[in-house]
Amino acid sequence: MTDRLALITGAARGIGRATATALAADGVDLVLADIAEDIKGVPYPMGTGSQLEATADLCREHGAGVSTERFDVRDTVAAAAAVERALDRHGRIDVLVNNAGLVSPSGKPVHEVSDADWEVMIDVDLTGAFRMMRLVIPGMLRRGSGCVVNVASTAGLVGYRHFAGYVAAKHGLIGLTRSAALDYAPHGVRVNAVCPGSVRDEPELEGVMMAEIARCLELSGTDHEKTFLPTQPTNRLVRAADVAGAVRWLAGDDARDVTGSVVTVDGGYTVR
Ligand SMILES: NC(=O)c1ccc[n+]([C@@H]2O[C@H](COP(=O)([O-])OP(=O)(O)OC[C@H]3O[C@@H](n4cnc5c(N)ncnc54)[C@H](O)[C@@H]3O)[C@@H](O)[C@H]2O)c1
Repeated sequence: MTDRLALITGAARGIGRATATALAADGVDLVLADIAEDIKGVPYPMGTGSQLEATADLCREHGAGVSTERFDVRDTVAAAAAVERALDRHGRIDVLVNNAGLVSPSGKPVHEVSDADWEVMIDVDLTGAFRMMRLVIPGMLRRGSGCVVNVASTAGLVGYRHFAGYVAAKHGLIGLTRSAALDYAPHGVRVNAVCPGSVRDEPELEGVMMAEIARCLELSGTDHEKTFLPTQPTNRLVRAADVAGAVRWLAGDDARDVTGSVVTVDGGYTVR
Protein backbone atom coordinates (compact mmCIF):
# COMPACT_ATOMS: atom_id res chain seq x y z
CA MET A 1 0.00 0.00 0.00
CA THR A 2 2.92 2.37 -0.67
CA ASP A 3 2.13 5.85 -2.03
CA ARG A 4 -1.14 5.89 -0.11
CA LEU A 5 -2.22 8.35 2.53
CA ALA A 6 -4.53 7.45 5.39
CA LEU A 7 -6.19 9.85 7.84
CA ILE A 8 -7.03 8.20 11.16
CA THR A 9 -9.06 9.95 13.86
CA GLY A 10 -8.62 9.07 17.53
CA ALA A 11 -5.04 8.03 16.80
CA ALA A 12 -3.43 9.00 20.12
CA ARG A 13 -3.89 5.60 21.72
CA GLY A 14 -5.77 2.30 21.73
CA ILE A 15 -7.25 0.95 18.49
CA GLY A 16 -6.27 4.13 16.62
CA ARG A 17 -2.63 3.65 17.57
CA ALA A 18 -2.71 -0.07 16.65
CA THR A 19 -4.29 0.78 13.29
CA ALA A 20 -1.78 3.53 12.57
CA THR A 21 1.21 1.27 13.19
CA ALA A 22 -0.32 -1.56 11.13
CA LEU A 23 -0.87 0.74 8.14
CA ALA A 24 2.59 2.29 8.59
CA ALA A 25 4.09 -1.21 8.44
CA ASP A 26 2.35 -1.61 5.07
CA GLY A 27 4.06 1.54 3.76
CA VAL A 28 1.08 3.89 4.13
CA ASP A 29 1.77 7.56 4.97
CA LEU A 30 -0.41 8.96 7.71
CA VAL A 31 -2.23 11.96 9.04
CA LEU A 32 -2.89 11.12 12.68
CA ALA A 33 -5.67 13.13 14.31
CA ASP A 34 -6.95 13.34 17.85
CA ILE A 35 -8.71 15.84 20.06
CA ALA A 36 -5.78 15.46 22.49
CA GLU A 37 -7.63 17.16 25.33
CA ASP A 38 -10.42 16.24 27.69
CA ILE A 39 -14.08 16.81 26.79
CA LYS A 40 -16.46 18.60 29.15
CA GLY A 41 -19.04 16.15 30.48
CA VAL A 42 -17.02 13.06 29.54
CA PRO A 43 -16.00 11.32 32.76
CA TYR A 44 -12.71 9.78 31.62
CA PRO A 45 -9.57 11.25 30.09
CA MET A 46 -9.13 11.58 26.36
CA GLY A 47 -5.85 10.96 24.56
CA THR A 48 -3.11 13.57 24.98
CA GLY A 49 -0.77 15.44 22.64
CA SER A 50 2.19 13.41 23.86
CA GLN A 51 0.32 10.14 23.25
CA LEU A 52 -0.47 11.35 19.72
CA GLU A 53 3.20 12.15 19.13
CA ALA A 54 4.16 8.74 20.55
CA THR A 55 1.89 7.08 17.95
CA ALA A 56 3.53 9.20 15.24
CA ASP A 57 7.01 8.16 16.39
CA LEU A 58 6.04 4.47 16.31
CA CYS A 59 4.80 4.90 12.73
CA ARG A 60 7.97 6.74 11.68
CA GLU A 61 9.98 3.73 12.88
CA HIS A 62 8.36 1.90 9.94
CA GLY A 63 9.53 4.66 7.58
CA ALA A 64 6.08 6.22 7.18
CA GLY A 65 5.66 9.93 6.44
CA VAL A 66 3.52 11.17 9.33
CA SER A 67 1.88 14.43 10.34
CA THR A 68 -0.34 15.02 13.34
CA GLU A 69 -3.47 17.13 13.72
CA ARG A 70 -5.32 18.08 16.87
CA PHE A 71 -9.01 18.73 16.37
CA ASP A 72 -12.37 17.68 17.72
CA VAL A 73 -14.50 15.69 15.24
CA ARG A 74 -17.44 17.81 16.48
CA ASP A 75 -15.78 20.93 15.03
CA THR A 76 -16.48 21.11 11.29
CA VAL A 77 -14.29 24.18 10.73
CA ALA A 78 -11.23 22.71 12.46
CA ALA A 79 -11.72 19.33 10.77
CA ALA A 80 -12.04 21.01 7.35
CA ALA A 81 -8.82 22.95 7.93
CA ALA A 82 -6.98 19.74 8.86
CA VAL A 83 -8.29 17.97 5.76
CA GLU A 84 -7.20 20.93 3.62
CA ARG A 85 -3.69 20.82 5.13
CA ALA A 86 -3.51 17.08 4.44
CA LEU A 87 -4.54 17.61 0.81
CA ASP A 88 -2.08 20.52 0.39
CA ARG A 89 0.75 18.44 1.82
CA HIS A 90 0.02 15.02 0.31
CA GLY A 91 -2.30 15.77 -2.60
CA ARG A 92 -4.74 13.02 -1.64
CA ILE A 93 -6.40 11.05 1.13
CA ASP A 94 -6.82 7.43 0.03
CA VAL A 95 -8.11 5.98 3.29
CA LEU A 96 -10.22 7.56 6.03
CA VAL A 97 -10.47 5.63 9.30
CA ASN A 98 -13.20 7.07 11.52
CA ASN A 99 -12.00 5.67 14.83
CA ALA A 100 -12.46 8.57 17.29
CA GLY A 101 -15.15 7.57 19.75
CA LEU A 102 -16.45 7.84 23.30
CA VAL A 103 -18.01 5.05 25.35
CA SER A 104 -19.39 7.29 28.05
CA PRO A 105 -21.14 9.30 29.67
CA SER A 106 -23.01 5.99 30.10
CA GLY A 107 -23.99 3.70 32.95
CA LYS A 108 -27.63 4.81 33.28
CA PRO A 109 -31.02 3.57 32.07
CA VAL A 110 -32.55 5.60 29.24
CA HIS A 111 -34.89 7.73 31.38
CA GLU A 112 -31.94 9.03 33.44
CA VAL A 113 -29.81 10.10 30.45
CA SER A 114 -29.54 13.91 30.18
CA ASP A 115 -29.75 15.81 26.88
CA ALA A 116 -26.09 16.77 27.24
CA ASP A 117 -24.97 13.16 27.81
CA TRP A 118 -27.00 11.93 24.83
CA GLU A 119 -25.81 14.73 22.55
CA VAL A 120 -22.10 14.28 23.17
CA MET A 121 -22.30 10.54 22.44
CA ILE A 122 -24.17 11.04 19.16
CA ASP A 123 -22.12 14.07 18.14
CA VAL A 124 -18.76 12.31 18.52
CA ASP A 125 -19.55 8.67 17.70
CA LEU A 126 -22.00 9.16 14.83
CA THR A 127 -21.99 12.73 13.54
CA GLY A 128 -18.19 12.94 13.86
CA ALA A 129 -17.80 10.15 11.31
CA PHE A 130 -20.44 11.75 9.06
CA ARG A 131 -18.57 15.09 9.17
CA MET A 132 -15.25 13.47 8.28
CA MET A 133 -16.82 11.54 5.40
CA ARG A 134 -18.45 14.71 4.06
CA LEU A 135 -15.07 16.47 4.09
CA VAL A 136 -12.88 13.68 2.70
CA ILE A 137 -15.08 11.85 0.18
CA PRO A 138 -15.26 14.67 -2.44
CA GLY A 139 -11.50 14.30 -3.05
CA MET A 140 -11.90 10.53 -3.37
CA LEU A 141 -14.70 11.04 -5.90
CA ARG A 142 -12.52 13.39 -7.96
CA ARG A 143 -9.89 10.64 -8.20
CA GLY A 144 -12.43 7.83 -8.58
CA SER A 145 -10.94 5.83 -5.71
CA GLY A 146 -10.83 5.75 -1.95
CA CYS A 147 -11.94 3.86 1.06
CA VAL A 148 -13.59 4.67 4.37
CA VAL A 149 -13.47 2.37 7.39
CA ASN A 150 -15.79 3.27 10.25
CA VAL A 151 -14.87 1.80 13.61
CA ALA A 152 -18.26 0.85 15.03
CA SER A 153 -18.69 -1.79 17.74
CA THR A 154 -20.69 -4.85 18.67
CA ALA A 155 -22.80 -2.06 20.20
CA GLY A 156 -23.75 -1.31 16.58
CA LEU A 157 -25.29 -4.78 16.32
CA VAL A 158 -26.80 -5.63 19.69
CA GLY A 159 -27.99 -3.72 22.76
CA TYR A 160 -26.04 -3.21 25.97
CA ARG A 161 -27.80 -2.40 29.23
CA HIS A 162 -27.08 1.16 30.43
CA PHE A 163 -25.24 2.17 27.23
CA ALA A 164 -28.16 3.51 25.14
CA GLY A 165 -26.30 6.56 23.78
CA TYR A 166 -23.30 4.49 22.70
CA VAL A 167 -25.48 1.72 21.26
CA ALA A 168 -27.69 4.20 19.36
CA ALA A 169 -24.67 6.04 17.95
CA LYS A 170 -22.95 2.84 16.82
CA HIS A 171 -26.15 1.41 15.28
CA GLY A 172 -26.41 4.74 13.43
CA LEU A 173 -22.83 4.40 12.25
CA ILE A 174 -23.62 1.01 10.70
CA GLY A 175 -26.61 2.58 8.90
CA LEU A 176 -24.43 5.46 7.70
CA THR A 177 -21.85 2.97 6.43
CA ARG A 178 -24.41 0.95 4.48
CA SER A 179 -26.06 3.98 2.88
CA ALA A 180 -22.77 5.64 1.96
CA ALA A 181 -21.53 2.36 0.45
CA LEU A 182 -24.47 2.48 -1.97
CA ASP A 183 -23.99 6.20 -2.67
CA TYR A 184 -20.39 5.68 -3.76
CA ALA A 185 -20.14 2.09 -5.06
CA PRO A 186 -20.45 3.23 -8.69
CA HIS A 187 -17.72 5.83 -8.17
CA GLY A 188 -14.85 3.69 -6.87
CA VAL A 189 -15.19 4.66 -3.21
CA ARG A 190 -15.76 1.84 -0.72
CA VAL A 191 -17.27 2.29 2.74
CA ASN A 192 -17.12 -0.45 5.38
CA ALA A 193 -17.33 -0.86 9.12
CA VAL A 194 -15.52 -2.96 11.69
CA CYS A 195 -17.24 -4.01 14.89
CA PRO A 196 -14.77 -4.77 17.66
CA GLY A 197 -16.02 -6.65 20.69
CA SER A 198 -14.36 -6.21 24.08
CA VAL A 199 -10.84 -5.04 23.29
CA ARG A 200 -8.10 -5.42 25.90
CA ASP A 201 -6.64 -2.22 27.34
CA GLU A 202 -3.04 -3.02 26.39
CA PRO A 203 -0.49 -0.92 28.33
CA GLU A 204 1.65 -0.17 25.29
CA LEU A 205 -1.39 1.21 23.46
CA GLU A 206 -2.55 3.25 26.49
CA GLY A 207 -6.25 2.75 25.60
CA VAL A 208 -8.72 2.89 28.50
CA MET A 209 -12.09 1.94 27.08
CA MET A 210 -12.63 -1.39 28.88
CA ALA A 211 -11.69 0.23 32.18
CA GLU A 212 -14.30 2.94 31.54
CA ILE A 213 -16.95 0.34 30.63
CA ALA A 214 -16.17 -1.49 33.88
CA ARG A 215 -16.49 1.78 35.81
CA CYS A 216 -19.88 2.54 34.19
CA LEU A 217 -21.09 -0.95 35.15
CA GLU A 218 -19.82 -0.41 38.71
CA LEU A 219 -17.71 -3.56 38.49
CA SER A 220 -15.48 -3.84 41.50
CA GLY A 221 -11.84 -4.83 41.45
CA THR A 222 -9.07 -3.88 39.12
CA ASP A 223 -9.06 -7.07 37.07
CA HIS A 224 -12.10 -6.13 35.02
CA GLU A 225 -10.61 -8.11 32.15
CA LYS A 226 -11.33 -11.36 34.03
CA THR A 227 -14.88 -10.14 34.67
CA PHE A 228 -15.57 -9.80 30.95
CA LEU A 229 -14.04 -13.16 29.97
CA PRO A 230 -17.16 -15.30 30.64
CA THR A 231 -19.01 -13.22 28.02
CA GLN A 232 -16.47 -14.16 25.35
CA PRO A 233 -16.96 -17.47 23.45
CA THR A 234 -13.21 -17.53 22.80
CA ASN A 235 -12.51 -16.96 26.51
CA ARG A 236 -10.22 -14.05 25.74
CA LEU A 237 -10.63 -10.39 25.01
CA VAL A 238 -9.91 -9.09 21.51
CA ARG A 239 -6.49 -7.59 20.77
CA ALA A 240 -6.41 -4.12 19.21
CA ALA A 241 -3.93 -5.53 16.68
CA ASP A 242 -6.64 -7.87 15.40
CA VAL A 243 -9.03 -4.98 14.89
CA ALA A 244 -6.22 -3.14 13.10
CA GLY A 245 -5.73 -6.22 10.90
CA ALA A 246 -9.35 -6.03 9.77
CA VAL A 247 -9.03 -2.30 9.02
CA ARG A 248 -5.83 -2.94 7.08
CA TRP A 249 -7.55 -5.62 4.97
CA LEU A 250 -10.58 -3.41 4.28
CA ALA A 251 -8.27 -0.55 3.31
CA GLY A 252 -6.25 -2.64 0.86
CA ASP A 253 -6.74 -3.91 -2.68
CA ASP A 254 -7.60 -7.45 -1.52
CA ALA A 255 -10.93 -5.96 -0.41
CA ARG A 256 -11.59 -4.25 -3.75
CA ASP A 257 -15.06 -5.81 -4.01
CA VAL A 258 -15.92 -5.31 -0.35
CA THR A 259 -18.23 -2.39 0.35
CA GLY A 260 -21.09 -1.92 2.78
CA SER A 261 -19.70 -4.77 4.86
CA VAL A 262 -19.73 -4.96 8.62
CA VAL A 263 -16.78 -7.01 9.82
CA THR A 264 -17.04 -8.23 13.39
CA VAL A 265 -13.86 -8.79 15.40
CA ASP A 266 -15.53 -9.91 18.60
CA GLY A 267 -14.42 -13.43 19.46
CA GLY A 268 -17.88 -14.71 18.52
CA TYR A 269 -19.75 -12.49 21.02
CA THR A 270 -22.57 -11.55 18.65
CA VAL A 271 -23.21 -15.04 17.24
CA ARG A 272 -24.06 -16.74 20.54
N1 LIG B 1 -11.95 -0.73 23.29
C1 LIG B 1 -13.02 -1.44 23.00
O1 LIG B 1 -13.34 -2.43 23.69
C2 LIG B 1 -13.87 -1.08 21.81
C3 LIG B 1 -14.86 -1.98 21.42
C4 LIG B 1 -15.67 -1.67 20.34
C5 LIG B 1 -15.48 -0.47 19.64
N2 LIG B 1 -14.51 0.38 20.04
C6 LIG B 1 -14.39 1.63 19.29
O2 LIG B 1 -13.06 1.78 18.85
C7 LIG B 1 -12.72 3.18 18.76
C8 LIG B 1 -11.43 3.40 19.53
O3 LIG B 1 -11.60 2.94 20.86
P1 LIG B 1 -10.38 2.77 21.86
O4 LIG B 1 -10.67 1.58 22.69
O5 LIG B 1 -9.11 2.88 21.17
O6 LIG B 1 -10.66 4.07 22.80
P2 LIG B 1 -9.70 5.14 23.49
O7 LIG B 1 -10.56 5.94 24.39
O8 LIG B 1 -8.49 4.48 24.07
O9 LIG B 1 -9.22 6.01 22.24
C9 LIG B 1 -10.11 6.86 21.56
C10 LIG B 1 -9.34 8.08 21.04
O10 LIG B 1 -10.31 8.92 20.39
C11 LIG B 1 -10.04 10.27 20.75
N3 LIG B 1 -11.26 11.06 20.65
C12 LIG B 1 -12.37 10.93 21.42
N4 LIG B 1 -13.25 11.87 21.10
C13 LIG B 1 -12.72 12.61 20.10
C14 LIG B 1 -13.18 13.74 19.36
N5 LIG B 1 -14.34 14.33 19.62
N6 LIG B 1 -12.37 14.23 18.39
C15 LIG B 1 -11.17 13.67 18.12
N7 LIG B 1 -10.68 12.62 18.83
C16 LIG B 1 -11.46 12.09 19.80
C17 LIG B 1 -9.53 10.18 22.19
O11 LIG B 1 -8.78 11.32 22.58
C18 LIG B 1 -8.71 8.90 22.17
O12 LIG B 1 -7.36 9.14 21.90
C19 LIG B 1 -13.94 3.93 19.33
O13 LIG B 1 -14.74 4.41 18.27
C20 LIG B 1 -14.67 2.85 20.12
O14 LIG B 1 -16.04 3.12 20.24
C21 LIG B 1 -13.70 0.10 21.12
